[in-house]
Amino acid sequence: MKIAIPKESRAGEARVAASVEVVGKLIALKCEVVIEAGAGTGASVSDDTFKAAGASIAKDFAACVKDADMVWKIAAPTEAEIGKLASGQMLAAQLSALTDAETVDALAKQGVTAFAMELMPRISRAQSMDILSSQANLAGYKAVLNAAAQYGRGFPMMMTAAGTVPPARVFVMGVGVAGLQAIATAKRLGAVVTATDVRPATREQVASLGGKFLDVDAEMEKEAETSGGYAKEMPPEYFEKQRQKVREHLPKQDIVITTALIPGRPAPKLVTKDMVDSMKAGAIVIDMAAEAGGNCEATKPGEIAVTKNGVTVDGRLNLPAMLAETASALFAKNLFNFVSPHIAKETGAIAMKDDDETVTGTLVCKGGEVVNQRVKGALAAAGQAKKPAAKQADDAKGA
Ligand code: NAI
Repeated sequence: MKIAIPKESRAGEARVAASVEVVGKLIALKCEVVIEAGAGTGASVSDDTFKAAGASIAKDFAACVKDADMVWKIAAPTEAEIGKLASGQMLAAQLSALTDAETVDALAKQGVTAFAMELMPRISRAQSMDILSSQANLAGYKAVLNAAAQYGRGFPMMMTAAGTVPPARVFVMGVGVAGLQAIATAKRLGAVVTATDVRPATREQVASLGGKFLDVDAEMEKEAETSGGYAKEMPPEYFEKQRQKVREHLPKQDIVITTALIPGRPAPKLVTKDMVDSMKAGAIVIDMAAEAGGNCEATKPGEIAVTKNGVTVDGRLNLPAMLAETASALFAKNLFNFVSPHIAKETGAIAMKDDDETVTGTLVCKGGEVVNQRVKGALAAAGQAKKPAAKQADDAKGA
C-alpha cells in the first residue's frame, strides 16, 4: 500500500499527519510512504529526517497523492486539493463532517472513500485512534499556558519577603478531555481550580484532580449524557440556573477556560457579555470552543480581544497546532492505530474491513455517495451547511 502525506495548506496549520516513528512502522509493514516536501517543517521534522525513516519526498500535492491508496491529512483538503484526488482513493483526516457539507459533497462527487477521524466511536478499543482526545488533551494544556502567559500575575501562592501573593483562581467550564487537562495543568501551576459540566460523571473526576465542582442542578444532569459519552443539549431551564451560578462565580475568577461542546451543534453560550463585564480587569477568558462559535458571547473566533473593562477574551483557533510536534506525533499514531489492523502483514496490501465499527463509524463517503447516516442526518438537520470558523478564515484569504 502507498500512503501519501501532503503538506497542510490551511492558514495557521503547523501540524503534519506523520511522524518519524509512524513512517518507520509503516515501512516495517511493507507500505510505501510519500511525503510532500516541507510537510514536516511546522512540526520540526525535515524532509531529510523523513527520508532517513524510509519515506520518499514529492515536490507538490499532486505528485504526493498520485497513485496513493490512502491519503493522510490533519485537516480536510481544500476544494482545489479534492480536485486532485482520484476516484476510489482513500482519505483519512479531521473532516468536520457533521457540519461541513460542502467538503463532504465535494469528496463524494470526486469518488473519494473518506474517513472522518472525528467520528471515531467512543469504545475502549478505539481510544488509541481518537484524534479528538489526543488533540483536545494538548489543547487543554496549551489553553492554561496561554492564559498564564497573558495574565499579569502569577498562578501559585507565593510567600515572599516583599509580601504574600494569592493564588490565581481558575474556572473551567466543560470537563471533557480538554477540560480535565486544563484542570490538571492549572493545579500543577498552583492555581485554585473550580469546574462545572452537565455530565454527572465529571464531579468525581474534578475532585480527583484537586478541583472543586460548581453544582448547577444534579437532578437535571442525570439525563445529560448520551450513550456515546457526549453531552446532550440542555433545556432552557438548565441554562438559566447555570447562568445564575456562573454569574455569581465569575467576578471572583482570574482565569476562565471554556471547553463546552455538543457534537455537530454550535457551542452553547455559557458566558454572556454582561458576565464578562462583571469580571475583574486583567482577567482572562480562553474560549476553547471558538471553532464552534464560542462559549462566550464576547469571543471573536481567531482573535484576542480586550474588553472596555480590561478582560482579555482569547478566541484563538487550533490550539493543538501551537504544539505541532507533539500534536502531529499523536495524530499520526491515531491514524496508524486506525489503519494498521487492515494492512496484510505479508504483502502490505490494505483492505478496510467493513464489519469493523471503527471503519463504519468514520466512513463518510464511498463510491460517489455519502454513506454515513449520522452525517446525512446532521447535514440535513442543519439545512444549509455552516463552515467551521477556520475554514471561513481560509476562504476569506482565498486559500
Ligand atoms: P466534548 O469536547 O464534546 O465537550 C467538552 C465538555 O463540555 C464535555 O465534558 C461536555 O459534557 C461539556 N458540556 C457540553 N455542554 C455543556 C454545558 N452546557 N455546560 C457545561 N458543560 C458542557 O467532550 P470530550 O472531551 O470529547 O469528552 C466527552 C466524554 O467522552 C468524556 O467522558 C471522555 O472521557 C469520553 N471519551 C471517551 C473515549 C473513548 O472511550 N474512546 C475517547 C475520548 C473521550
